[in-house]
Amino acid sequence: MLCPFTRILKDALTDKRAVGAFNVGNMEMLIGIVKAAEDLRSPIVLQIAEKRFKHSPLEYVGPMMFSVAQKAKIEIALELDHGFTVENIRRSLAFGFNSIMFDGSDKPVAENIRLTSAVAKEVHNQGAALEAEIGVVGGSEGGAMYLASCARLEDIIKLGSESECDALAVAIGNAHGHYKGVPKLNFELLQQSHAALPGMPLVLHGGTGIAPEDFRKAITMGICKINIATANFDAFVAGAAAYCQAVAPDSRSYFGLNESAVEKIYENTCAHIRLFNNTEPLDVINF
Ligand code: 13P
Repeated sequence: MLCPFTRILKDALTDKRAVGAFNVGNMEMLIGIVKAAEDLRSPIVLQIAEKRFKHSPLEYVGPMMFSVAQKAKIEIALELDHGFTVENIRRSLAFGFNSIMFDGSDKPVAENIRLTSAVAKEVHNQGAALEAEIGVVGGSEGGAMYLASCARLEDIIKLGSESECDALAVAIGNAHGHYKGVPKLNFELLQQSHAALPGMPLVLHGGTGIAPEDFRKAITMGICKINIATANFDAFVAGAAAYCQAVAPDSRSYFGLNESAVEKIYENTCAHIRLFNNTEPLDVINF
């Protein structure tokens, strides 16, 4: 069922676990992700980044996401991920999304606060929630490429306390896409941010490639939403490739290929949800 974003995150923060926020590009991804969440009886966030609309138009994917969220047996929030334009923010709200991630992270902090507050006002008026971002998360979410960096603690506190955001994505050395080398998260900065803003749900972007023990450590420091995109895009490709390798060209079918892709997305999503739920020891999770 479609549930308030803020409630889902606050519950996770209280329980010391994180909600998996999975980016979707098509129906097969939705099927695999939602089946995983239902089988594990776990709430999730389904999201799509504005920069992905050129591959997955919102007018096709948005209604599918909304319908799935309404019918699912588990709690789902729907988010526009990395929203930049007022037009796309309003379109997403009109399709029933109940959370907007407004990305003002490339702006000077005062400007980020000003814009985030204005968007928060409009989003709240529509009954939806607002996720903000501070500092530059490296890599790319379908747009420009950035180097991983860390936000300044004073800026994290300022945006978190002055912008009326409901959740805050913090740059702590994380990056979208494939990491070059081993990701090094700044846990000291995360710990200080959580101590300064104890009730604020903190969000970790760039989840693909982060080590299981680092996810668990981040969850103890206030991270209660973790974004996963690339790992599932890769799972889709791996499923399709495995199918083509296993089945002779004249026996291949559209349906078989899709099933193989969905299966890999299901497995990958299950592993992430079990990790984020923070109840099982790491060595029993096939990650
Ligand atoms: P990854 O592509 O690294 O998993 O990051 C996803 C993300 O942060 C979406 O906003």
